[in-house]
Amino acid sequence: MNAPLKTANGLDHVVAAETELSHIDGEAGVLIIRGHELPELVRDFGVEGTIALLWNGDDDFIHSRPRIQQALGAARLASYARLSRLLAATGGLDVIEGLRSALASLSDDERESELIVAGAAPVLVAALLRRARGLEPVAPDPHLTHGADYLRMIRGSVPSAADAAAMDAYLTTIADHGLNASTFAARVVASTGSGSVSAVAAALGALKGPLHGGAPGPVLDMLDAIETHGEPERWIEHALEKGERLMGFGHRIYRVRDPRADILKAVLKTLKGNPRLALAERVEAAALSALAKAKPDRRLDTNVEFYTALLLESLGIARHGFTATFAVGRVTGWCAHILEQRRTGRLIRPQSRYVGPELRK
Ligand code: ACO
Repeated sequence: MNAPLKTANGLDHVVAAETELSHIDGEAGVLIIRGHELPELVRDFGVEGTIALLWNGDDDFIHSRPRIQQALGAARLASYARLSRLLAATGGLDVIEGLRSALASLSDDERESELIVAGAAPVLVAALLRRARGLEPVAPDPHLTHGADYLRMIRGSVPSAADAAAMDAYLTTIADHGLNASTFAARVVASTGSGSVSAVAAALGALKGPLHGGAPGPVLDMLDAIETHGEPERWIEHALEKGERLMGFGHRIYRVRDPRADILKAVLKTLKGNPRLALAERVEAAALSALAKAKPDRRLDTNVEFYTALLLESLGIARHGFTATFAVGRVTGWCAHILEQRRTGRLIRPQSRYVGPELRK
């Protein structure tokens, strides 16, 4: 007879993979990517350096960073060359579903498909955001950095150095984050021997939910509602009484403030300024105090999505493009995990506990 199984609903505290890629210390509020802390990556590595680190390791970082920049530029151009075919089945879909559909139309069999999807994501999201405004897509400039070119393809003009640096910091900050739901989805698919495009399509499906990467748009909706109401403390109290969740707060792993929230808040302050920052700070303080009262046994703090919403709004990205912009950054982490799973992992196949009706005679 099989040993009795212990159910871990939601897989809390279950270690489902070993990884060299990233580690979250949820008690200390620290995120480490291959031995480097996040502030160092934002300051010294940037998006291309972080991708080089995630995909290739520390050994050849100096050489691999410019190679990554060049390869990503070429991948963006290659995606643009087949843009109309990639967008063919996206009519009527919103930006994140359009991205999912377009990426899923790529083949798993192409060489270097990780590079292809990482290059395609910003080109597709920029084109989908422009399409929603009735505008034609803008061709990539392979000489720009990934973040600067993403903004340029959305806006149609080269961004200021400050805006480009802010996008670079955002994409770096969210590149990888342990075995979050979307990364796990990618690893499950990769563990079956399926290809990188299929694994990324699964990850996108997981990312778009409001408990994961779908939260930053609703953060702005919440700020809108609070601004209209006029009294943050009362609005928040009422929302919690109704059993609603405050978007941008709480995390499965962090028991303290998500370190990414502070990085993004600091980046936000380097820009011209979001007129809502003062309101957001008041809402954050009110939310933390109300959550501490409502859930005294569970430490709920600010997560990455709260300041993501303000930062992306300051960069002029429409809120219906926030989750897809998250995907532009996270796709590089997904690909690193897919490659690692392929190298070191085995088929991921957990069990379920049967609680259905007994066998009918
Ligand atoms: N607002 C109000 N209550 C909350 C919140 C919140 N933001 N987060 C958790 N809680 C409450 C839950 O209702 C639950 O209460 P209960 O025990 O009385 O039922 C308790 O805290 C524990 O919550 P869980 O759902 O068990 O925590 P879990 O680890 O599964 O959830 C999650 C983490 C999904 C992020 C949650 O905190 C949440 O829904 N936050 C709001 C959405 C959000 O900000 N998502 C982005 C997350 S960051 C990212 O994925 C990139």
